[in-house]
Amino acid sequence: MRRRSALVLVLTAALTQSSCLMMVPGLLAGRTMGGGGMGMMGMMGGMGNGMNHSQTAPAPYDKMLNPVPHSAAAVAQGAQIFQAQCATCHGPKGLGDGLAGLRLSPRPANLSQVVKSAHAKDGHLMWVISEGGRMPGSAMPPFKASIGEEDRWRLIHYLRTL
Ligand code: HEC
Repeated sequence: MRRRSALVLVLTAALTQSSCLMMVPGLLAGRTMGGGGMGMMGMMGGMGNGMNHSQTAPAPYDKMLNPVPHSAAAVAQGAQIFQAQCATCHGPKGLGDGLAGLRLSPRPANLSQVVKSAHAKDGHLMWVISEGGRMPGSAMPPFKASIGEEDRWRLIHYLRTL
């Protein structure tokens, strides 16, 4: 009897401790990432990205830099393509809330958040847009056959304004 309750005590202590330990990074992440009031959304975005981006862009994408000069015209053209080809899933402002995306799993990325994260290098964005999504079951289609290369770069200029 005595032994059992001692064991229960030890177990409870271990559990409480480990859940405390798990809470700490979560809280810290929430605090650092949620500075602008993103709170839980910020944390979820962070977690999603971690899963999503264990894979990095393969050659030749990994070394690519946007060769199309930044200009208002390039951004405007990118915006047009975005509204025609991407907004159905990613939403008119790229928040991941397009009508066609609401029932998808995984959900379309919040591109406004993605472009502000460290992994969103030119080559990474070009890779996903050209070759399609990388998450298992992703509905993100490849666009290299339907959108010309320069237009994909214009699209990336636009994404960076989101
Ligand atoms: C049929 C719906 C659909 C369409 C259309 C679509 N996407 Fe996506 N997209 C997704 C989904 C779902 C994901 C998240 C899963 C993944 O990354 O594989 C995603 C992910 C992405 C990512 C990766 C974000 C990251 O964290 O790396 C980028 C960039 C992106 N989309 C850009 C675009 C652009 C630009 C277009 C238009 C040319 C577009 N998508 C059209 C569904 C779509």
